[in-house]
Amino acid sequence: MASSRKSRSSSFIAQPRSTGLEDHNDCLSFLAVCQQSNVDILPISWQKVRGLTGKGGTAHVSKSPVHIEFELAHKRWSWSRFEPFNIDVGTQEMYKAFTLETWILTRPAIKNHANIINIEGVCWEFSGKRPASPVLVFEKAHFGDLSRFLFSSQGRQLSFFERFSICLQITKAVMHLHTQRVIHADIKPENVLIFKDGRKGLLPKIADFGYSTLVSTENETMHLASSEPWCAPEMHGRQFTFDNARKTDIFSLGMVCLWVLFSENILEQASNHEGIDEAYEEESEKSMSRCRFILKQLKGSGELVKYTKDLVNETSLLTEPQRVRLTKFFSLTLELNPLDRISDLVLLCSSLEIPM
Ligand SMILES: Nc1ncnc2c1ncn2[C@@H]1O[C@H](COP(=O)(O)OP(=O)(O)OP(=O)(O)O)[C@@H](O)[C@H]1O
Ligand SMILES: [Mg+2]
Repeated sequence: MASSRKSRSSSFIAQPRSTGLEDHNDCLSFLAVCQQSNVDILPISWQKVRGLTGKGGTAHVSKSPVHIEFELAHKRWSWSRFEPFNIDVGTQEMYKAFTLETWILTRPAIKNHANIINIEGVCWEFSGKRPASPVLVFEKAHFGDLSRFLFSSQGRQLSFFERFSICLQITKAVMHLHTQRVIHADIKPENVLIFKDGRKGLLPKIADFGYSTLVSTENETMHLASSEPWCAPEMHGRQFTFDNARKTDIFSLGMVCLWVLFSENILEQASNHEGIDEAYEEESEKSMSRCRFILKQLKGSGELVKYTKDLVNETSLLTEPQRVRLTKFFSLTLELNPLDRISDLVLLCSSLEIPM
């Protein structure tokens, strides 16, 4: 089965050509998936007064407290793109995306992975003005998404090795998804959530599977979403086989790791740059926007791998073998030509398992 959806803030559009779940875009299919996957229908609601926890291209996320240490995040469909004339299209898109996300996250091999978000259940939203809509309920991440966290005061203080641990955990999660034949298709900092973890400190979890694909046959092809600057350069609205799609996830993973490890260096480079949009009020959003600008430029210039190599070489914290392995990681993930890029993360993971 495979999927994709229309329209998003920073992405281009991809229309599906494929079989399986994405053809199921109605309420009954959604309920059938919930029942078959043992997803609870929860008698709860979120608190409007507490505002939004996050907002993406297709959904709004609100929160509700369960007890002092535990809050829930409610992922609600964003109707504004479809109002007032395209409510029917919006309804189909919503069921397609939510059915697929629910299905993927409840596969037995996926739902127990420490670095992949857990779905806690679903509830319903009924306002009277819009169609009654399902709401996906997740555990709320203590520190929000990686994009905001890394530029928060706590995120900025992370050591190189704590950042490295985040990269390794995300890499393992993507590797696991690929071994289960799932293409995430939208790996970016906003789709990685940061949880507190008693033993290991920070626990990143990959979230937002609304653009993902669960590949069922060898010859199946899919369209993919593309969020700049994280997406692979070969995204041109074409169809991807599983192997080629894996490479696009791997490029995005390399970009996210580059940013996680070297965001301060990238930001420094941005401060000397003219022409950067400064219209953001929140400092973290401004910093993120600057990083996106620089990363997009680097990608366009073809200098990405060289840039990472220089950054790794300048990092005095690393031993020579560590430098070699990290350089290899970036050169295998960030090759602009997909033919030169690695497609199997199992091999790559060993190059990241550097004792730090
Ligand atoms: N469980 C959660 N805990 C805390 N924050 C969350 C949670 N889930 C989502 N968010 C916040 O809400 C934002 C939007 O959620 P999500 O990525 O699932 O929606 P989306 O509209 O599909 O996004 P996109 O624009 O990537 O398509 C996230 O980037 C994050 O900031
Ligand atoms: Mg998202």
